[in-house]
Amino acid sequence: MKNIIAIDGPAGAGKSTIAKSLAQELAYLYIDTGAMYRAVAYQALQNDVDLADEAKLAQIAADVQIDMRLQDGENLIFLNGQNVTREIRLPEVSAAASPVSAVAQVREYMVPKQRELAARGRVVLDGRDIGTVVLPQADCKIYLTASLDERAERRYKELLAKGLPADLNEVRQDIDERDYRDMHRETSPLRQAEDAVYLDTTGLSIEDVLLAVRHLVEA
Ligand code: DC
Repeated sequence: MKNIIAIDGPAGAGKSTIAKSLAQELAYLYIDTGAMYRAVAYQALQNDVDLADEAKLAQIAADVQIDMRLQDGENLIFLNGQNVTREIRLPEVSAAASPVSAVAQVREYMVPKQRELAARGRVVLDGRDIGTVVLPQADCKIYLTASLDERAERRYKELLAKGLPADLNEVRQDIDERDYRDMHRETSPLRQAEDAVYLDTTGLSIEDVLLAVRHLVEA
């Protein structure tokens, strides 16, 4: 069985759903690395920090205490002891997390934390650069993607299900812009690792994807 499983891919590809289910099935720890950048972005917004001020963003990344805890099947995120699980999913935080995660110094603080969490083994991580930068030695790397329309539709439904306001066109545009920024930034851009398995989930159900991923992990 693989000890470290890395799932990368664009926004809304179903990475967290799949990573979380897989971790549960295998009794592995799930590490949501995007939540860490979201938490930094949330703190920056709370403090009215200009998102172009890289030094201030780096300071926040250095100072924040981010903790994750699994409770009743839900992955809870704590920022300096405060439960921000819901807040970090708000559209304004999603939009801010992308430029925040592009700051090299912010990543310099987050990546060691991610490696530290993964060092215990039996972990599933999802993100953008896990297989390429954070843990290039991962035992199993998957690049999960789907068409832009389908990813937008999934994210839109997810927001509605959580009772959050959403507009499909806005969600699509937001995802498109974030992906562009995440793929074209200088530091650790989103790209498929050479040894990652490419999995296009367009038209597939969660169960189908989970089955495919399980085959890869057990292979
Ligand atoms: O996966 P997500 O939507 O929660 O990620 C939020 C932002 O953080 C997204 O714009 C990409 C960025 N991110 C990153 O740069 N590296 C990671 N390992 C995970 C997320």
